[in-house]
Order: sequence, then C-alpha cells, then structure tokens
Amino acid sequence: MRLIITDNYKKLSRRTARHVAGQIELKPDCNLGLPTGSTPLGMYDVLVKLHQEEGLSLAEVSTFNLDEYRGLDRNHPRSFYNYMAENFFQHVDIKEENINFLDGTAGDIEQECQRFENKIATSGGIDLMVLGIGRNGHIGFNEPGKELKSNSHLAELAEETIKANQRFFQEEEEVPAQALTMGMGTILKSDRILLLASGRSKAWAVKELMKNRITPEFPASFLRVHPWVTLIIDQEAADKI
Ligand code: GLP
Repeated sequence: MRLIITDNYKKLSRRTARHVAGQIELKPDCNLGLPTGSTPLGMYDVLVKLHQEEGLSLAEVSTFNLDEYRGLDRNHPRSFYNYMAENFFQHVDIKEENINFLDGTAGDIEQECQRFENKIATSGGIDLMVLGIGRNGHIGFNEPGKELKSNSHLAELAEETIKANQRFFQEEEEVPAQALTMGMGTILKSDRILLLASGRSKAWAVKELMKNRITPEFPASFLRVHPWVTLIIDQEAADKI
C-alpha cells in the first residue's frame, strides 16, 4: 500500500483529481468506481475545472458508484445519485447511459445487486476505484462486523455512520438505516484503488489501516490484500502514524 501525505485537503484533492484525469487520458473509455461523502468533493471540483479549462473529456468514461441509500430514488435530493449529479455529472460531458448506480428503490434486492455486478463485469471491470473511508473503517457501506459480504448487497448502517451522515440531511429528515453497497469483493476486483482520508476524524482509521492485520471488524483492512492501493491523506489524517 503506497502512502502519499499532502500538506492539506486542497492538495489532496488536486493530487487525486490529477490521478483520475491521468487514468482517463490513458484510457478514455475507462470504468471509474466513485465515492460520495465530503472527502471527494474537492476532487470532483478539480475534475470539473480540468474539464472546463483544460478539455478533460469524460465522453467515453463509465462510472460505477459505491453505494446508494435504500428507498431513495435518483431524483431524491438526498440520494447519492443526486449528490453526484450536483457535484460532478452536471458539470462534465459524461453520458447518462454510462452512469451506473445500484437502485435504492429496487423491489428485488438480490436481482438488482446481481444486475449491477454483471454490468461491472460485462463492462470490463473497474479500472480505477476511488474510495473514502468511514471513521470506523467502513468502505462504502461495508460496516465493521463478524463477517463481510463479498458481492454487492443490502447493508445495515452502523449507528455512528447514520450519525456521521446526518449532516447531509435536514434536522427532521431521517437518514436511511439501510443502503445498497458494493461488497469488499466487488471493490477488490478493481485494477487500482485510491483511498482518500482527510482531517483528524480519520486519523484513527488511518492508523488502523496501516497495521498489518486483516479483520472484518475493520473492513478497510481488506485493502491490504490488493496489489495496487494508494492511500492519499492530508497531514491531519496522518496525525497518528
Ligand atoms: C459514507 C459513505 C462512504 C464514505 C464515508 C466517509 O458512509 N458510504 O462511501 O467514504 O461515509 O464519508 P466522508 O468522506 O464524508 O467522511
């Protein structure tokens, strides 16, 4: 696992965006795995600027998002699809038909997860997977527990994850308690993985990640078995290592 420590969040965002842009320039029809949350917002900003000012084109790129809340459809203001549309898709030249999400409103979850996995496989697999990390070491919505599910599945959100995600919802709005998420096996099939962590709140998770052990109690630790993972963190997230 390669470690890059940047002075601050701005440089983390720029470094990550340049890496993603490099992947697109290398393979214009690449498949990108994308995260949501607050950490990747700076990266999306820089990618939009690279598109608008330097002509970076996503016209042939396909994207596969990590997760989506159960019960929220694409148009729901709090859906991860809406987050991606507002922060990224609407500002670049990606084609709607190349945007792939697990459907949070699917009636048959099994079937929907299988559809999504098949789509990744038939598209040639994910070339570059960009990940954030939860304070408790969750990846996507793969939460700490006695076991982890390998493929895409319906996950129960941990109490602390619900609390941490409340900031994206209004006071009275309820954060969904379940989400559809790529499984750790889905993620580990990606060719290359970038994991981003910013701020002191992630310092414990980063410290845990650097330990040489693999446990479902800390899902991010499974990334240690992958041959190509680069961790890009800022000074604050590096505070405990
Ligand atoms: C959310 C998302 C994860 C994300 C994590 C960290 O629960 N499901 O994909 O990486 O929390 O989010 P943030 O970057 O806002 O700290």
